[in-house]
Order: sequence, then structure tokens, then C-alpha cells
Amino acid sequence: MMDIKHSKILILDYGSQYTQLIARRVRELNVYCEIYAWDAETQAIEDFAPQGIILSGSPESVHMDNAPTLNEVVLRLNVPVLGICYGMQLLNQHFGGEVAGSDEKEFGYAQVNMTGQSVLFDQVKHQQLDVWMSHGDKVHTVAPVFESIAHTSSTPYAAFAHQDLPLYGVQFHPEVEHTVDGREILGQFVHHICGCEKLWRTDNIIDTHVDSIRELVGDEKVLLGLSGGVDSSVVAALMHKAIGDQLVCVFVDTGLLRYQEGDQVMQTMADKMDINVIRVNAQDQYFDALAGATDPERKRKIIGELFIRIFEQQAQELDDIQWLAQGTIYPDVIESAGSATGKAHVIKSHHNVGGLPEDLSLKLIEPLKDLFKDEVRKLGVSLGLAPEMVYRHPFPGPGLGVRILGEVKAEYADILARADHIFIEELRNHDLYDQTSQAFAVFLPVKSVGVVGDARRYEYVIALRAVETIDFMTARWAHLPYAFIDLVSRRIINEIDKVSRVVYDVSSKPPATIEWE
Ligand code: XMP
Repeated sequence: MMDIKHSKILILDYGSQYTQLIARRVRELNVYCEIYAWDAETQAIEDFAPQGIILSGSPESVHMDNAPTLNEVVLRLNVPVLGICYGMQLLNQHFGGEVAGSDEKEFGYAQVNMTGQSVLFDQVKHQQLDVWMSHGDKVHTVAPVFESIAHTSSTPYAAFAHQDLPLYGVQFHPEVEHTVDGREILGQFVHHICGCEKLWRTDNIIDTHVDSIRELVGDEKVLLGLSGGVDSSVVAALMHKAIGDQLVCVFVDTGLLRYQEGDQVMQTMADKMDINVIRVNAQDQYFDALAGATDPERKRKIIGELFIRIFEQQAQELDDIQWLAQGTIYPDVIESAGSATGKAHVIKSHHNVGGLPEDLSLKLIEPLKDLFKDEVRKLGVSLGLAPEMVYRHPFPGPGLGVRILGEVKAEYADILARADHIFIEELRNHDLYDQTSQAFAVFLPVKSVGVVGDARRYEYVIALRAVETIDFMTARWAHLPYAFIDLVSRRIINEIDKVSRVVYDVSSKPPATIEWE
């Protein structure tokens, strides 16, 4: 089996909000990498045996008490090192330079001028670059072993290189989209300076994952809970390619899914891809369990627990299953690992369907646990899943349960799914779907007056929500064209009798959240 993790980079995380972005960029350059906390065990770093190391930025200042430090093993390994922002300060400090705390925080665009020649900038086409800066500290005096290779109007050391060794520092963020030629700089470091081969490609990833699934599972059987979401669908497609009929999927239709999603899952997975799928029509069970529940946390709990109960029951009815497959992806692994001193950030820790049964005494297989979401999506498309499905907006685990305010009823779920479908369909028709990060309808259980012909009628209210965001931690409401909102509103009111009013949500996050709950 080819070892596509043979060429690899280690990223030491000092807590920057961009650490995962660095890793995704390196992967996009077709090189495997992993993120370790800055205070990871020396032995673990040695065992990983990277061909190069990238030190991330940090929200901290090197002057603070207990500021994160540089583990000397980084230099002892004798591999190239690139320090980004805080990582650059650490290298400078290590070699005897001084870092100045500065009251003036630099945040946003800056213009960097290349000074002289450096192999790090070999692929940079411009003499001047617009780059993304985000820092408080900066290099005050540079250690004598370093020479400046770029400057800005506010610092002579926007980047430096060691005179003899392959050690580099950049004050700006090459991983951020806004930095012109950022990819070229990282590519030059990873491919040319570290000498990493381009082995981490979708086709190779599929082949090696298929091989290792086969090796691990042998002729045993694997159970997978399909949710309709991207991760579990890709696990299904990948496992099916690896072990065919040894995979059994259980798909629980909760009645809280997108419009006609249950049928679509069956069409794609069972009919088209010929995967073993057991569909459990649990809609009534869900609506019964949710009757009378209005508190959001209680609703979530009911939905999560019922899922586990149904899934366990199905599992017990199946014979000789030895494995449980899960759609865990790499960000879940990094975020739950954290750092020994608790410094590691938690960018997004999501409340999923309440986990899966632990007492089934099955062995766990998580075939996507070394992949980022964008890699999972690419794999999905290569494995034959429809791009529209793979690139869909996120959908919360408890589904429409969090989008029906107050008590959840079958009638409300039906109205909401249809309204949501109209909204999404029109977004796609108008090429607006990919311009929004998440869009959906919300059901409000209040009745408001409307006139149809000569008659007044009191029916429900639908709210439309659409946001633009990068990380879902903050979001701006999408400024959709009025004519578009008008069209969607008309369609919803005309096509769904039970709706007499449509409103558009103009709240950003914070202070509002994306979901209404
Ligand atoms: P909020 O509402 O917190 O949502 O601004 C941020 C993102 O998280 C999604 N979300 C969930 N995803 N299970 C999930 O898998 C959940 O329980 C859940 N609640 C919110 C939400 O759709 C948005 O993308």
C-alpha cells in the first residue's frame, strides 16, 4: 500500500484562529499535515517525523506570564521551520532577538515590500504584496542570524530568513485568502524547501482509505447511521466501495428532515448506489415524543435520545455486526483533543445528535477522521455523490425541531418543509444559493391576519433566514434583492394555505444566533 502520509508537515498550534486554515492550505497543496498543540510531548513530535514544521500565530504576547514557548525539539529535528506571526517572534526570541510589545495592534491589510532575494518568495510574482496582518507584538531587534527579506512601512522585519539554516519567519498570514500569493509562499515552503511530495490527492486518499478499511474490517460487518448529511453519506459511499454488502446502514426518518429528504436518501443510497439501507419511518414516534415540549433544550434532548433508542433497537435486530462506523472528521478530533495546558482554542464545538450508543459493544471505525470538511466533500463527489448534495448548506442535527418555535407538530413540520423548499429552490434558480452560507425558513406558531379574496383568514407566519459567514461564529444577514424576497414570499403564501405572512430576518450574529430555536 502506498504511504501517502509519508511526506508530511507538522503544524504547532499556538492558539491562532487561523491554525486550521494553515492545515487546509497545506493539504490543498497535496501534502499531508497534522496539527499538534504547542506543548505536545517531545516524543510525539519526534515520532511524527515531519519533513517541515509550521509554527502558528497566537492571540497571546510572548511577554505575558506563561506565554506559550518554543519546544527546542523543533530545531533539533533539523527540518525547515516557518514561523507565522507569533511563531516568527518565537524564532527571533530563541536566537536572541527582541520582540516589542506594541500598543498599536495591526489588523487588516498591509503592503509588504520584498527586500532582496529569498528562496521563500521564489514563486511570488510581485515586488509588493497586499497581505493580511493580525498582531500586537512585532520584531524589535532581529537576532543576528536572521536577515530581513521583506518590510512594511511600520516594520523593517515583515519577514526574515536564517542566514544558513532553512528557518523563516513571516509577520503576515500567508494562509489567509486576502494575502496575495499566500498559496505560492506556502507552496514554496512545503514543496521546495521541505521537499514534500504531492501525494495527498483525492484519488490517492480514496485508494488508501479503501485499502485500510478492508484490512481493518476483514470479512466482518459494519453498521452505520445515515443522517442524510454530508459526512455520513460520504462514509457510506467510501465504506461501500471498500466492503460492499458488509456495510449495513440504518436511516431514521425523524419527520424533521428537509422536504422529501427521506425519499431522496433512499433513492441515492439504496437505488442508485446499491448500498444496504434500512429505512425506519419513525415520524410518528418523534411527534408523539415531542408533544407538549416547548423548551428548546428539552426538545433537543428528546430528539437525541429517541434517535439513540431507535438506532440501538435496529442494531440489536441485526445479526453478527462487529463494527460501528461514524462520520467523525479531523476538526472534531483536534477540537476535542485540546492542549495539556488548556490553551488550545475551541473554534466550533458542535452539539450533534447526542452521540451514538456506547453500550453496543461494537468496535469503532471512523474512516474520515483525518480529513477536513472540504476534503470530505471532494471525496464525496469523486465517489459519485451529487455535488448539490455534497455542497449543501449545513443542517442542524435536530433538524426542523430547532426551526419550529415552541411545540413541534406534524402539521407544522409539513408547512415548514414546504416553505423551506420553495425558498431553497428559488435561491438555486437565481444563482443565490452559493452566495449565502446558510438559508432556511422558520415556523412561527402565531396566527396573523391576511385577506384572500374578500375573506379574512388567520394563518401562520414563516420567517426567512439567510446569512453570509466564514466560520458560523459570526454572520451577517444576507442582503438578498427585494424582488427576490418578494417572489419567495408570494410563492409561499400562494402555495401554502396555512401561511398568511412571510417576514425576513435582518439580525446579524452576534447578538442573534443563526438558528431561531
Ligand atoms: P447558531 O444558531 O448557534 O448556529 O448561530 C451556528 C451553526 O450551527 C448549526 N447548529 C447545529 N448543528 N446540531 C448541528 O449539527 C445542532 O444542534 C445545531 N444547532 C445549530 C447552525 O445550523 C449553524 O450552522
